Amino acid sequence: MDFRLSDEHEMLRKMIRDFALKEVAPTAAERDENQRFDREIFNKMAALGLTGIPWPESYGGIGMDFLGYVIAVEELSRVCASTGVTLSAHVSLAGWPVFTFGTEEQKQRYLKPMAIGEKLGAFGLTESGAGSDAGAMQTTARRDGDSYILNGTKIFTTNGGAADFYIIFAMTDPSTKHKGMSAFIVEKGTTGLTFGKKEKKLGIRSSPTLELIFEECRIPKDNLLGEEGDGFKIAMRTLDGGRNGIAAQAVGIAQGALDVAIAYAKERRQFGKPIAHHQGISFKLADMATKVEASRLLTYQAAWLKSEGLTYGKASAMAKLFAGDTAMEVTTEAVQVFGGYGYTKDYPIERYMRDAKITQIYEGTNEIQRLVISRYLMKNE
Ligand code: CAA
Repeated sequence: MDFRLSDEHEMLRKMIRDFALKEVAPTAAERDENQRFDREIFNKMAALGLTGIPWPESYGGIGMDFLGYVIAVEELSRVCASTGVTLSAHVSLAGWPVFTFGTEEQKQRYLKPMAIGEKLGAFGLTESGAGSDAGAMQTTARRDGDSYILNGTKIFTTNGGAADFYIIFAMTDPSTKHKGMSAFIVEKGTTGLTFGKKEKKLGIRSSPTLELIFEECRIPKDNLLGEEGDGFKIAMRTLDGGRNGIAAQAVGIAQGALDVAIAYAKERRQFGKPIAHHQGISFKLADMATKVEASRLLTYQAAWLKSEGLTYGKASAMAKLFAGDTAMEVTTEAVQVFGGYGYTKDYPIERYMRDAKITQIYEGTNEIQRLVISRYLMKNE
């Protein structure tokens, strides 16, 4: 067992860290304030190859592993969690199901442009009445000759509106719940797909979260992903990996908060010395750093299992659960280190705390992660 990152992973981390500090960090507060998504940042990530890290070169990727991908999400989230989730949803939730379940033609048509970052991807599962209970969805897809016709409304779609391709789940046989669900690829601009409400959010405010409305939306039958009835399993398997991306986002947020808390604690003086030299603060920083490191190890382990082709659903859920809870705890403590200043927008730390909260909610709430983990335990897996 070797806990060191390879030279290749270290170089990738350094390259992304430099990019994040130069191109992402300077506008993070302004984009948060104005809820502004910046496609130019995504284009610059594409130019560096970040949009296709785990995909083979034949599909426009750079042929690295999932560890490389989680390092990218972590380093971006360390300065801007919105940018981290843009990449995570693009790669894990939109790219992966096409890579895994798509036909060769679908990979050429959809995965390749996503891998090179010419197109942005999104994933639409959630509905107003189907959040944790994903199988309860109402959106339908009915076959009509060489087409499927979609009707229904998806909510909370990350990258919504900005994305060019959407992985959409709909019931082809509503009478059989999970077994009647299918997955489709829908292109932006298709007649019958419109964008509804844009959410005004507490955190990750420069990541667009939109409602997708399907009204007699006709797509070619060839845009069915996998077989009819495979949809629920495609969604669950996609989320097994997606949760690893959210774990990486949470590690990045927590590390970013720790970075700024340490710098502030060394500089801020009270009672004649830097507050870092008061045990009340130094022990707090030690606890924060320990939990961030534990989260990182769980996250990297899940990515490694996935890259090795081993079972990773439980590991990914554990990583997301622990890292999400850690991000919330560490960012809250980091605000405490800043005291009254932490409660203002003069410092970035309040943004980290607002951004952390979503990691306990999306891609399965942390209560759902506990459910998933406990089901593995019951099966002795
Ligand atoms: N892989 C493969 N198959 C799976 C699976 C997995 N991980 N999990 C379940 N299945 C299969 C089961 O084996 C079962 O198959 P059979 O019918 O053949 O036996 C079938 O799917 C149904 O499984 P369950 O009975 O376990 O289903 P359930 O209704 O109890 O739901 C759940 C399970 C874990 C609660 C699931 O509904 C779930 O994950 N809910 C959370 C949804 C979620 O994460 N949403 C996130 C939205 S996306 C998002 O947030 C993106 C973003 O913004 C960035």
